[in-house]
Amino acid sequence: MDQIAYVNGSFVPMAEAKVSILDRGFLFADGIYEVAAVLDGKLIDNASHLARLQRSVEKELVARNNLVNGMVYLEVTRGADTGRDFAFPKGVKPTLIMFTSVKDIVNAPAAKTGIGVITVPDIRWARRDIKSVALLAQVLAKQAAAEAGAGEAWMIEDGMVTEGGSSSAFILTQDDVLVTRQNSSAILPGCTRKAVVALAEERQLRVEERPFTVEEALVAKEAFITSASLFVQAVVTIDGKTVANGKPGPMTDRLREIYIDFARATAL
Ligand code: PDD
Repeated sequence: MDQIAYVNGSFVPMAEAKVSILDRGFLFADGIYEVAAVLDGKLIDNASHLARLQRSVEKELVARNNLVNGMVYLEVTRGADTGRDFAFPKGVKPTLIMFTSVKDIVNAPAAKTGIGVITVPDIRWARRDIKSVALLAQVLAKQAAAEAGAGEAWMIEDGMVTEGGSSSAFILTQDDVLVTRQNSSAILPGCTRKAVVALAEERQLRVEERPFTVEEALVAKEAFITSASLFVQAVVTIDGKTVANGKPGPMTDRLREIYIDFARATAL
């Protein structure tokens, strides 16, 4: 069966899902997006994703695609004007599109083995708190990671890790403190990050929201990343150097389990 997409009020086969070449998302990357996980046909941590966007059409799309496990992608752009003007167009309706993809996040092989990350300079703009579709810097970072056989790129600014190309970055220090960078315009405020921090604190784990260096990560007990598309995933090497014993650590495995339980319990 062809995948069904949502475009400006209609559900259409993916091959017919089209927007204008004058769409500002296409011309200027003048759009924002969301990615939410689906487990057993239900949307995960949607309250958070919803604070960043809208739900009913997502549910309909999941049903129409018979999606059991995977993701919903949603994008809003400032719409298609009659020409190419940088300033906001007047009286133009935003474009809204959505589609789904199949992915077994819970049983992903990388969850068992962990992944390697490489480090790259963070060359992004200054408003990384906006989930903008202007993702060229992340495309380049993640392509470099793929070419190096790594699963993610950690972006570095002023000697500190900002975040992953499409994930939030965490370490667990030798004295069992969970460290992840505080929210600011330097990073995207990850929904999964927020949930993992809250779940860890509920379990009396000490959490410090501050930047950390690659050197600190290399001597940490554990390192991991979080995002809607992978939940919690261990980082076992950084630029080819091993973190701890090179295997996913017990706290990472535990937080992954706790997050999956939370996800299932709060799924819509
Ligand atoms: N990316 N940081 C960046 C730069 C991201 O692109 C993402 C998510 C995250 C994690 O956010 P969340 O936990 O809300 O998914 C952090 C999505 C998955 C993507 O671009 O595919």
